Amino acid sequence: MSELIADLVRSQPVAHSLHQGLYNSPEVFARDMDCIFGRYWVLAGHQSSAPNPGDWFLHEMADESVIIVRGKDMQLRAFANVCRHRGSRICRDSSGHGSRLICPYHGWVYELDGRLAAARLMPADFDVSSHGLKPTHIEVVEGLVFISIADKPLSMNRVRASITAAVGPYGWSSARVAHRETYPFTANWKLAVENYLECYHCAPAHPEYSRLHSAEKPIERVAKLNEAMEARTRALGIKVGPIDYHVDSEIDEQPFVGRRYSLYDGACTGSEDGRPVAPLMGAFTDYDGGVTSLLFAPSSFFIAYADHGVLYRFIPHTPMTSSLEVIWLVNGNAREGVDYDLEKLVWMWRVTSKADKRIVEDNQLGVNSRFYEPGPYAPMEARVAAWTEWYLKEIA
Ligand code: FES
Ligand SMILES: [Fe+2]
Repeated sequence: MSELIADLVRSQPVAHSLHQGLYNSPEVFARDMDCIFGRYWVLAGHQSSAPNPGDWFLHEMADESVIIVRGKDMQLRAFANVCRHRGSRICRDSSGHGSRLICPYHGWVYELDGRLAAARLMPADFDVSSHGLKPTHIEVVEGLVFISIADKPLSMNRVRASITAAVGPYGWSSARVAHRETYPFTANWKLAVENYLECYHCAPAHPEYSRLHSAEKPIERVAKLNEAMEARTRALGIKVGPIDYHVDSEIDEQPFVGRRYSLYDGACTGSEDGRPVAPLMGAFTDYDGGVTSLLFAPSSFFIAYADHGVLYRFIPHTPMTSSLEVIWLVNGNAREGVDYDLEKLVWMWRVTSKADKRIVEDNQLGVNSRFYEPGPYAPMEARVAAWTEWYLKEIA
């Protein structure tokens, strides 16, 4: 670890926002790419984005690009998007389809399982078998596709069980992506993650969300509401959870944190007016007015309502540029325009994501000032405090 990073970690005040350098220095960003994104599993998308053999989509972050492709045997595989000839990117669009993957530079051809099938005009003794695409680790849990670019990936055992317990009842393994939208923003990826970890900002920044979601209030003030919601969930015969939470970096596992909370005033789901927006999912035969909200560390969030799901992928590009991809899930049988209106489905999290982009960019601008100094977290920001503590341990 460099002197700069050691100094920043050592002098970081407890339960305060991070030092400026942790949000804007290229050295810290390189460290993040090694210690965080090079070590942890990250959500790449949902399996329904590549339903048929030959379908593929990309997962990109900083210098890395991974192709997730469905093989002829229906297996999803992941490969570094790096040609084994001279290293060109092979796939350039964010998704596509083909019976093989062909490098646009000199035309090397790869099978969907990564084997090199043909390399034009190479000598007769050229060994195609040792020039297949480099695989990366991939796991599919409840339809969610996770990628790890680590040499040796962390165990997913505990978190796999937690994800299944938390979103299994919502039927995400048979869900379908209804829509995806990308929001580029000019800020360090950590500012965006921190923003998503707290709802202290919800009341001032998200009036639309706060009208419906009780997470905008301290948890002890809405305990009765949450109890009533849990009773409704039980009455439907649905058991959600338990959801693990651990930030102990001694354990070589993926941190995963979640909570359930109630919507206000008989609202059914996270829509503009709280009314249903899509057919019920999974085990839900009625609305319980509950929201399951999860963080899959370091940078992926999931929100489950009875009739739709929302996935968040915060993607680092450079020290001060990132993007947020929002993916909306619906019941696998739901037809757009018949069973749901896309504009109504995406309304809540589009308006909220636009506001968050603004908030996070303003935050970075202030953090870059010579007058910035780390400020104290409020009690409603306890999860941010725990997350930054975990983060500091990881980079140290
Ligand atoms: S770099 Fe891909 S074929 Fe040459
Ligand atoms: Fe927000």
